[in-house]
Amino acid sequence: MASNRGQFNTRIGFILAAAGSAVGLGNIWKFPFEVGQGGGAAFVVLYLAFCFLLCFPVMISEIAIGRKTQLNPVGAFKKLGHGNWSIIGLLGIIAGVLILSFYNVVAGWAFGYFLEMVQGNFGVGKEFGTFITDWQKIGMYGIVFMAVTAFIVSKGIAGGIEKASKILMPTLFTLILLLIGYALTLDGAMEGIKFYLVPDFSEINGDVIYSALGQAFFSLSLGMGALITYGSYVSKKQNIVRSAALITLTDVSIAFLAGLMIFPFVAYLTQGSMEGVEGGAGLIFATLPGVFESLGATLGMVIGALFFLLLSFAALTSTVSLLEVPVAYLVDEKKIKRPYAVWGMAAFIFLLGIPSMLSNGNVEALTNFVTLGGSDKATNFMDFIGLVASDTFLPIGGALISIFVAYVWKTNNLNEEIAIGRENAIPFVTKYINFAVMFICPVILGAIGIITILDRYFGIDVLSKLF
Ligand code: PHE
Repeated sequence: MASNRGQFNTRIGFILAAAGSAVGLGNIWKFPFEVGQGGGAAFVVLYLAFCFLLCFPVMISEIAIGRKTQLNPVGAFKKLGHGNWSIIGLLGIIAGVLILSFYNVVAGWAFGYFLEMVQGNFGVGKEFGTFITDWQKIGMYGIVFMAVTAFIVSKGIAGGIEKASKILMPTLFTLILLLIGYALTLDGAMEGIKFYLVPDFSEINGDVIYSALGQAFFSLSLGMGALITYGSYVSKKQNIVRSAALITLTDVSIAFLAGLMIFPFVAYLTQGSMEGVEGGAGLIFATLPGVFESLGATLGMVIGALFFLLLSFAALTSTVSLLEVPVAYLVDEKKIKRPYAVWGMAAFIFLLGIPSMLSNGNVEALTNFVTLGGSDKATNFMDFIGLVASDTFLPIGGALISIFVAYVWKTNNLNEEIAIGRENAIPFVTKYINFAVMFICPVILGAIGIITILDRYFGIDVLSKLF
């Protein structure tokens, strides 16, 4: 056993760390507004189906590759396949580095909002546009967030990532339940819940399906080797299939709970009309502070501060996993000592994030960075990196991972690995996983990647032709 690489000490430690990676801004920041844009509950139903039918088999594959090889993504593909396949790992690491570069910026906003709420400054919501251009403040928050992330990662697997997850995840869960309990007592809460939970299937179209798929995949941290990396620290005693089911369930539950918390808030503010729910990213940063303000100074401060603390904690367990991927690569492949790898990478990624940080109004060239085909509005640098790294690289990475598992490593080797530590296996589940990695995942994930490129880069509207 590669004990000098470190290992999760307990089963629950791994599950919490991986669930922590999955649960992030994606669940609390992005999910509710995707639901808002996707017509409410119909989106939720699709999302759930995609998580379990499509993402779950990829997650099992990633963890199995990691545990089998006990290596970072590049090393893992090199060991199981031939040298060239390590390109999948490299692609994943690049995606991870790029994602962390802008993810840390938004995480910094969340942390900054926590500080604003503590001071009772609810006006920050109305000034969201100004807040994100205050580069000195935002830069500071970004440095703090990256430093905390690096500190945790520098302590290693059991002493850093596992320990932090064991504290942060239960706290996050408690906070979200507290906030839901409170939100449900607000006037109009039921209108919000209805909007959220009564599906209107007529809302489902190509765009909604596309975003539900992308959201499911991003939310479960798949396609870039984060779970290969975490899987490489998992003991042979652990049941991979059961762990993956628990991780998926936790992620889905937190996203679902985030909606239960946010829609009553919005309903309360809009007096049940739910107007402005489609307000994009602004839903959390621009709209919610107004809700907190209306609760009165003290209560608003408490609820607002708890909310943004929750958001920061959710982001932190994800930034930790994003940083661990390139760090594992440097440690395994380049033989760099962990602390150097961690702080060096963290500094590099922070610097890489500066253009994203300045692309919301500070620097014109970054704010109106590119105008992509079919659009008359320019995309800023931050959204462009998101488009490349999360919307393009992740699904393509996921398709390649399933192709690799099905046709290079082969499903019988996958089955052998997942049989280790797995008691009471249900044969149908194994059959489904095999079928999914051979046919469903490569085709659907490959299609999302291609649709992203055609539609979002070149403005060729394939979705409306398909559905
Ligand atoms: N899953 C995280 C979220 O929902 C984001 C993430 C993606 C983290 C990929 C790690 C790897 O916010």
